[in-house]
Order: sequence, then C-alpha cells, then structure tokens
Amino acid sequence: MKSAIPYIQENKSRFIEELINLLKIPSISADSNYKGDVVKTAEVVRDSLLNAGCDKVEICETPGFPIVYGEKMINPDLPTILVYGHYDVQPPDPLDLWDSPPFEPVIKKTELHPEGAIFARGACDDKGQMYMHVKALEYMTKTDQLPCNVKFMIEGEEEVGSESLGWFVERNQEKLSNDVILISDTGMISPDVPSITTGLRGLSYVEVEITGPNRDLHSGLYGGAVANPINVLTKMIASLHDEDNHITIPGFYDNVDELSLEERAKMGEAPFSKEAYKKSIDINDTYGEKGYTTNERNSIRPTLDVNGIWGGYIGEGAKTVIASKAYAKISMRLVPNQNWEDITELFTKHFESIAPAGVSAKVTPHHGGQAYVTPIDSLGYKAAEKAYEATFGKTPIPQRSGGSIPIVALFEKELKSKTILMGFGLDSDAIHSPNEHFGIWNYLKGIETIPQFYHYFTEMSK
Ligand code: BES
Ligand code: MN
Ligand code: MN
Repeated sequence: MKSAIPYIQENKSRFIEELINLLKIPSISADSNYKGDVVKTAEVVRDSLLNAGCDKVEICETPGFPIVYGEKMINPDLPTILVYGHYDVQPPDPLDLWDSPPFEPVIKKTELHPEGAIFARGACDDKGQMYMHVKALEYMTKTDQLPCNVKFMIEGEEEVGSESLGWFVERNQEKLSNDVILISDTGMISPDVPSITTGLRGLSYVEVEITGPNRDLHSGLYGGAVANPINVLTKMIASLHDEDNHITIPGFYDNVDELSLEERAKMGEAPFSKEAYKKSIDINDTYGEKGYTTNERNSIRPTLDVNGIWGGYIGEGAKTVIASKAYAKISMRLVPNQNWEDITELFTKHFESIAPAGVSAKVTPHHGGQAYVTPIDSLGYKAAEKAYEATFGKTPIPQRSGGSIPIVALFEKELKSKTILMGFGLDSDAIHSPNEHFGIWNYLKGIETIPQFYHYFTEMSK
C-alpha cells in the first residue's frame, strides 16, 4: 500500500471542512430535544459513506436511533473488516465553561496540538475518529487500493448504552459477518508513543433514591428528630469505600481477574509521569485504591464513583429545609470476569440493606456492559502493530484503557470476532468535558494509518 500522505495533503482542507460540518449538528442522544438532529446526522453519515465509495448504504431503523450500515464488497474470498463508530455525542453541559460554543467548531493551536485542533463536542468522541475511517475508505477507493471487503456500522446511541445496537446485532449476524472489527473510539499515549488499546472496562450504572418524610420539612421544627435523606445518602455513599479505598460491597471483588506480578511489571514499563499527570488536571496528589499505581487504578481495577448528587434547596440564599428525597447517580467500572448484571444486583442488595430505619432506598439500574480484553498475538493486533510501525516509525505499546465501549464484548459474543481498538485521541482532548477537541495532526495520522491496517490485515490473512 502506498503512503496516503500525498492524497491527504492534497485534500486536507476538504477533510477538515467535512468534519466541521458534521460537528455542527448537535446529535445529543441523551436529550430528546435533539432527536431531529441525531437523525439528520445519520443521514449525513450515510451520504459520506456513499461519496467515499460504499456500494450499498442504508439507514437501518431500530427501536431507538437509526444505525448507518454501509459496505463495499469486492471479493468474497478476501477478508472483511467491520468498522464500528458512533455519530451521537454527549450533552455539552455545562455550557458556560466552553470557550467557544460546542456546536460551532473552531480551530485553535494548543501546547499539545501545535498544528491546531478542532474544538467542538464530538470532535474526538467520536465523530472525528469515526470520520477518519470514512476518509481512509475514500483514499483507498479513489486510488484503487482497497485490498479487502469492508462494512461500516455507525450507531447513534453509544453515549446512552447502545441498547438498539445490541438489538440490531442479534438480528443481523449474517449481514455483519466479518474477520475483524476495527474501532477508533479510544486514545493513544502520545504522538511520540503510539499505543493500541487492548482493554476496556465494563460498566454498571445505577441511580439511587432515598426517601424520608412524605414532604419537605421545616429543619427547625423537625430537624434532629427525623432522618434527613441527604445526610443519610451521603453517609451511605461514604461507606461504600473503606479507609484503603477498597469497595465494601460484599462479593464485589469475587470474580475480579487479578493480573500477575509479571503482567503488572510489564504494564509499569509504559512511559508515565505522575508529575505531568497531576499538572495536567491541577491536582496536588493522586488518590485511589491502596496497593495499586495510578495506571493500574484507572485500567485494571474496578471502581465506584458518584457522577451526580442532588436534593434539597440549591437556589440563592438560605432556606431551612429537610428535603423529602435525595438522589445520586453512581457508576461502577468493572474489569474482566466481573458480570455487570451480577454487580448491579450486589450493589442493589447492599445499598438497600444499609439504609437505616427512617428512610427507604430505591435503586434503579440504567445500563451496563462487560469489560473487554483483546490478545496481542491475534492477526488483527499484529496487523495494527505493523500499520503503526509504517506510519509512526515505532512499535505501538499495548495499553488497557479505563473507559468503556460496552458493545465490544457483545460483538465478540454474537459475531465471534476480535476487536482492534486503534484510537488516535489524547487523554487531554477533554472528551465528555467542556472544550473537547481533536488534533488535526491526529485526525490526519489516523487517515494515514487506517489503510495500512487494511493492507497488513489482508496480507497476513493469506
Ligand atoms: N469513546 C468512549 C469510551 C472511551 C474513551 C474508551 C477513551 C477508552 C478511551 C465512549 O464514547 C464512552 O464515553 N463510553 C462511556 C460508556 C457509555 C455506556 C456511556 C464511558 O466510558 O463512560
Ligand atoms: Mn466514544
Ligand atoms: Mn463517549
């Protein structure tokens, strides 16, 4: 496969412009006010796949948001790569922390992106990374170099749990049959230290509700004599970790895959500066489970975090009140061999059991998914390694990520193929945060590297 650099240089401004147009549509899957925009984004993705050379593209209806499916089948005897990505984005809130509006993309230079980065919600997660695949396909078809068959499956519910995608995959195993699944929806260590993501954490996401008295009460007349749901909730939450920051839910760690000391030592060889880490997010120290390093805590260990907590009076000034209810949203990141449904049940039982007399506790599960690890001796991994060597001039490091793409474990179960996670974002790209951005260098490097993967995967499959 020839280097894509000349083609990329020639078409660079168009590639950027097309991505910017995609980023202008607020495809927020979590917010029903944006339904129309989510659907419109699917249509733009469909058109882009047709323009890039797919023979057949369709918008597949589901109980939720549509899935864009496209394919270019050149020869049934050649391998088939299935590309997955998502066109939906996270809500942009809080809006006032953005330096420019989230759906009015701007290009700005930063310390880590001297060639400029596109600032917009979805720039890195995942419109920018998904679109690298569309442009890589364009390069291969327009220059007659597509070496194998390709299928695209781009969904619009990743940020809300991929429920419809599970439904779709179960019903379309034949249509989606493939030799390897390729995803760019993760990150890499740095432009100088390319890495391939070999693991994703699972997830169990729940909402809890504590109910005390049947109405909000005067905190003077009743205070001290009835349970305050907010006091109780915070105490219950605090009790979910012990003094070593281990999670206290009985049975929580029972099935956790413990890594050997050798595996942990190998992980520890990846370049990491604790000082730079602290500085990048302005903290004066790291924090977490005793006995594990920062990189272990955020990848191979399970966690429990409150994502939001509310109740009572939060308006201006002071109001003396004991609220009737208090709420929190809690996520647990899981590791291989922990079953998310079992963990949700363990959490529910435990949480309800620690509620003191005077209140009642209710747990409502949201969504979840299993963790995923991919071996580094598979054909797909080796092809990816070669692709990075060709475009970065360096062997990439395997790295387990702390994030989750719950559908990946389901792909393996239903479609029986391995997933290769070739991410080109940086942790500092602020995905899910205000001022999300994606480096133009990263965007173009992805477009350059992906065709190499197609080439090596096809060659090595022979
Ligand atoms: N692309 C991310 C996941 C990710 C990012 C994995 C960086 C590894 C490195 C994905 O869009 C995401 O945000 N997933 C959610 C879970 C989902 C069910 C809402 C997550 O990890 O919080
Ligand atoms: Mn994503
Ligand atoms: Mn995301």
